[in-house]
Amino acid sequence: MNMSVNIAGVEWKNPVTVASGTFGSGTEYSEFADLNKLGAVTTKGVANVPWAGNPTPRVAEVYGGMLNAVGLQNPGIELFCKRDIPFLKQYDTKIIVNVCGHSTEEYVAVVERLADEPVDLLEINISCPNVKEGGIAFGQDPKAVEAITKEMKRHAKQPVIMKLSPNVTDITEMARAAEAGGADALSLINTITGMKIDVNRRKFVLANQTGGMSGPAIHPVAVRMVYQTAKAVNVPIIGMGGIMNADDAIEMILAGATAVSVGTANFTDPTVTEKIVAGIGEYMKKYHVNDIKELIGAVS
Ligand SMILES: Cc1cc2nc3c(=O)[nH]c(=O)nc-3n(C[C@H](O)[C@H](O)[C@H](O)COP(=O)(O)O)c2cc1C
Repeated sequence: MNMSVNIAGVEWKNPVTVASGTFGSGTEYSEFADLNKLGAVTTKGVANVPWAGNPTPRVAEVYGGMLNAVGLQNPGIELFCKRDIPFLKQYDTKIIVNVCGHSTEEYVAVVERLADEPVDLLEINISCPNVKEGGIAFGQDPKAVEAITKEMKRHAKQPVIMKLSPNVTDITEMARAAEAGGADALSLINTITGMKIDVNRRKFVLANQTGGMSGPAIHPVAVRMVYQTAKAVNVPIIGMGGIMNADDAIEMILAGATAVSVGTANFTDPTVTEKIVAGIGEYMKKYHVNDIKELIGAVS
């Protein structure tokens, strides 16, 4: 039984990684989940300098998931390279570094700093809904998506995954723009912009007023967008959005994803990724699937 997949020339032992921002750099989670069992670890977004993130409260529970407006709090690339990359290198898993910035120059600075680090793939977050003048500003305009992708490809040593926003009318337009810019792979979806109001206080629950919705409620939206994107482009897709168990992961692969990321589910069960890897194996055994690649886009 072969569970390995190939993303832009990088071979993962299985198709499961974690969604950026829901797993730190694996330090705390390594007490619960064996990082050696994951195809890859995707880190929290990192910028050229440390970011404090948004004022609190930054997270809220909602039906079927959560809202967050963390605002990409991160330690900056220098500390990240000294502390987080050596930690992850102890494990037999691929390393995907998620990159954020307020401007093209800031993204470029991070990508250039990572050039000689032992990192396997870069995931460029052009879709964070919680950061003013950055992230999303790049991810909602196809011309901007193509331009930033080109810049990333010009400076990056590792293959580039462009992470798309679901907060657009037509996801395939953004996917095609990223492919035209030279993206090696795409990942989707980031969170869907939402809002929660405390009716007793008549106040916004999040200090940021809006936040990104994640968790099981967004899964059907994510499956639809992965399906549409897989039909529109030729590069591999990492599918995410509300994956809670192995069936959800397989659904994403059947829709056209080559690999999957598990996000919010880590907060309710820090061992969930290992269970999902095992569950995919059980599914393959049950249905006599010899190679996971047979399942990619196999819905009819
Ligand atoms: C608390 C939190 C922090 C996040 N931070 C990032 C981030 O730093 N960079 C990024 O690209 N996506 C970030 N995301 C989005 C996730 O990676 C993922 O795209 C989204 O949550 C959908 O997957 P899920 O429903 O499985 O959580 C974050 C999500 C959450 C819930």
